[in-house]
Amino acid sequence: MYILGIETSCDETSVSIVEDGKKIIVNEIYTQKIHEKFGGVVPEVASRNHIIKLFEVLEAALSESQLKLSDIDAVAVTQGPGLLGALLVGLNAAKSLAYALDIPLIPVNHIEAHLFANILTYPDLKPPFLGIILSGGHTTMVNVSDFHEYKLIGETRDDAIGESFDKVAKLLGLGYPGGPIIDKLAKKGDENKYEFPIPVPGDSFYDFSFSGLKSAVRRFVDDNNQFNVEDVAASFQKAAVEAIILRLKRYIEENKINTVVAAGGVAANSYLRSKMKNLAEKFNVNYYFPPLKLCTDNAAMIASLGYYLLKKNGPLPKEKFLKLNAKARMDIY
Ligand code: KG4
Ligand code: ZN
Repeated sequence: MYILGIETSCDETSVSIVEDGKKIIVNEIYTQKIHEKFGGVVPEVASRNHIIKLFEVLEAALSESQLKLSDIDAVAVTQGPGLLGALLVGLNAAKSLAYALDIPLIPVNHIEAHLFANILTYPDLKPPFLGIILSGGHTTMVNVSDFHEYKLIGETRDDAIGESFDKVAKLLGLGYPGGPIIDKLAKKGDENKYEFPIPVPGDSFYDFSFSGLKSAVRRFVDDNNQFNVEDVAASFQKAAVEAIILRLKRYIEENKINTVVAAGGVAANSYLRSKMKNLAEKFNVNYYFPPLKLCTDNAAMIASLGYYLLKKNGPLPKEKFLKLNAKARMDIY
């Protein structure tokens, strides 16, 4: 079964075709570079660029796959969370395609789809596992007891971890997106040069807070005329990753956990990957990350999850799918 996935929740315009939830036939991703000059994603600019690019990306995906629209069995699309205007472009395109082709439309939760980037990659990976979603919009720890069954363990009270990488990069004058730039620079820096605090919100150990860390780096930059940017990047990255590792460690110690699964753009971070590997090996726990290309936003993870949802729930009646709306906020638990 061929599922066509569409992803337009932020600044990636992506179309993918995935066979039976597991085999990527094509995963076309257009990253809107225009946001670099603004130092962050401008929602209105993102929506406009999705409109301009989506059909080009769709045509490129079809041509590369050598499939025709008539070969597609269903369309899966990101319904939320994300930028409302950006989501609406993908959702409306998906509705039109599904309606015109008379095939099912499957609305997909972007956060859940990030986790499915792992299921897509590692066919033998099955719940239960501890999931940690680290992206530009989310920092969420969930207990995955079964497919589509999630229990929230903790989430950020303010900035998401990826957002903190982007904001710190911006205030260091490093460009956007900040995560990959900091990741690279930090390799040349001393992570112990500066101590940036990473708070634990008072009443819940498993919740996260990253805005204080960003403010600490801002104060440091304001108060110091001269510093080595690589050392600041490394020290910031150490604090941000420590916040994740600390909670994972405590949860693994307190619960019977055999497997940890990371997902989202920040799961591409090389320092986080090595720290998580060390932690998992120390506690004899299995660990999974998606390949780098599937960490950041892509439509393959949308198509993959779409396949499992269609198998589980069956197709939505047409009158229902035409009424579907995009959702800026959408939880998975
Ligand atoms: O999952 P994603 O593509 O989009 C959202 O759903 O938000 O994540 C994007 C985020 C950005 O904040 C970006 O800076 C961060 O992931 N990111 C990284 C790395 N690659 C991307 N953060 C740290 N290290 C990286 N190597
Ligand atoms: Zn994402």
